[in-house]
Amino acid sequence: GRVVVLYGGDSAERDVSLASGGAVLAALQRSGVDAQGYDLAAGGLSGLEALAADRVFIALHGRGGEDGTLQGALELLRIPYTGSGVLASALGMDKQRTKRLWQAHDLPTPASITLGPECDWSTVVRRLGLPLVVKPIHEGSTLGITIVANADDLASAYREAARFDAEVMAERFIQGEEYTVSLLGDGILPAIRVEVPSGFYDYQAKYHSSETLYHLPCGLDAATEARLGELCREAFVAVGGRGWGRVDVMRDGEGRFWLLEVNTVPGMTDHSLVPQAAAHAGLDFESLVLRILDTTLE
Ligand code: DAL
Ligand code: MG
Repeated sequence: GRVVVLYGGDSAERDVSLASGGAVLAALQRSGVDAQGYDLAAGGLSGLEALAADRVFIALHGRGGEDGTLQGALELLRIPYTGSGVLASALGMDKQRTKRLWQAHDLPTPASITLGPECDWSTVVRRLGLPLVVKPIHEGSTLGITIVANADDLASAYREAARFDAEVMAERFIQGEEYTVSLLGDGILPAIRVEVPSGFYDYQAKYHSSETLYHLPCGLDAATEARLGELCREAFVAVGGRGWGRVDVMRDGEGRFWLLEVNTVPGMTDHSLVPQAAAHAGLDFESLVLRILDTTLE
């Protein structure tokens, strides 16, 4: 049957999604799959319905594509789709509620506070320490995120995050190494350690910099990497994730892991992490895309 790759949309991560979706579509076509692309921003759901898709490969990032709303619409249209269902997608897009769930499961995640315009910044600093991280609660690709070293900069960091989202949080900053673990079907792909010379894995470092280092193998001993993989699998299962996803983690100076967030539609661009992890596990990009597509039917 026909596969429609959904990409684009109108979220702040539209450009990333166009790159992810274009790569996925080309890989499906190279593999002989009857596939076509569809920019959700172009014709909306009615246009999608007219395509009579047998399956949808979701390559949309951010709100309106990764956050459960589209998943709900596809359920109503009875079109099978890749990746997580309505609830896990909505949770994954909400960094704060994801953390509350992890805390309820005794999974380690840095302390956080939801901020508002009337916040008492000194209480925030007292509870989380400095530096701390201010982020939009429902955003991706590091958009709107500021690492705040000085309490005087908190209010402007809040305003920057609030440009992207009505809900903003502050989180304790974990000094250390950044890891990411990709999950595919029932499998755990090799962990990657991301190292950024500028110190901050932001939008620029994610998609435009040639200086970002992706350590693969990640440098952890086998037992520690296995423990990290299991932690990320548990974190993904806790939100109800399925199909595929990626969990981002910090490791502090004492070797403790701290869960940051789950991505239910991770990037699939040529800089992206899931394709790199898959390649290291012997899965080329076409095979990865076909495996993700297969998880639709599981
Ligand atoms: N939000 C971006 C696409 C990622 O997680 O890879
Ligand atoms: Mg994310």
